[in-house]
Amino acid sequence: MWPYPRVIAHRGGGTLAPENTLAAVRCGIDHGYRAIEFDVMLARDKVPVVIHDQDLGKRLGGKGMVDDYDAADLALMDVGSWAGPGFAGEPIPYFADFAAFCKTQGVWMNIEIKPARWQARATGRAVASLAARMFADELRGADRSRLPLLSSFKKSALQAAREVAPELPRGLLFRKTAKLPSNWEARAHQVGASAVHLHHQTLDEQGARAIKAAGFGLFCYTVNDPGRARTLLEWGVDAFCTDRIDLIGPDFA
Ligand code: G3P
Ligand code: MG
Repeated sequence: MWPYPRVIAHRGGGTLAPENTLAAVRCGIDHGYRAIEFDVMLARDKVPVVIHDQDLGKRLGGKGMVDDYDAADLALMDVGSWAGPGFAGEPIPYFADFAAFCKTQGVWMNIEIKPARWQARATGRAVASLAARMFADELRGADRSRLPLLSSFKKSALQAAREVAPELPRGLLFRKTAKLPSNWEARAHQVGASAVHLHHQTLDEQGARAIKAAGFGLFCYTVNDPGRARTLLEWGVDAFCTDRIDLIGPDFA
């Protein structure tokens, strides 16, 4: 069973705000969302920050790589201007601050561990230990629905997270492929995943039914068409993230 929200704002506010920023979370909240996905990477000083691309030039117009800088340097960078003048000055958030803000606002988190080069295990450890500290009370309680779901394409990151905080739920992300890999279940078991996270075009109805019959949660990224979202839910998909929080509301069914 899937105790978490069904519709999740990708990177905080989808395409309506600069990805992975507090402005994006506020934007998601303004659209009624109380569930987000976001990406976490380590800065040079091993402090986790919220960002998607390792290469700062790729989208943000910066220079170098995330792990060329300490977190305090990254926190001075403007990652909002590219999304519009109204977002100018929006910084790269510290993961600790970002997660605390979400928790305070009652926003459920799918935390994608997105390691920079050679940092998979260290990133998994850092994310899991901070999340476990932040959710210590919930981890002692019976209600698991507020716990963040850790996900990653990197099995070693999830394995490291499991070593640090075995009780935090994990989802294994699979890259987009033409069809579901035949070894999906073995791969998910290797990291003790309770959920399988697939590109929605990888999935067909048979695959969806098999994953659900095997007892896993089933999450799809990134679904921007309401018709497709409806089909996925009919196949038994538990949840999906979307960039189109303006088209697909948090109560979409
Ligand atoms: O976690 C789902 C999705 O965010 C995975 O891909 O590249 O958007 O982080 P990406
Ligand atoms: Mg992501």
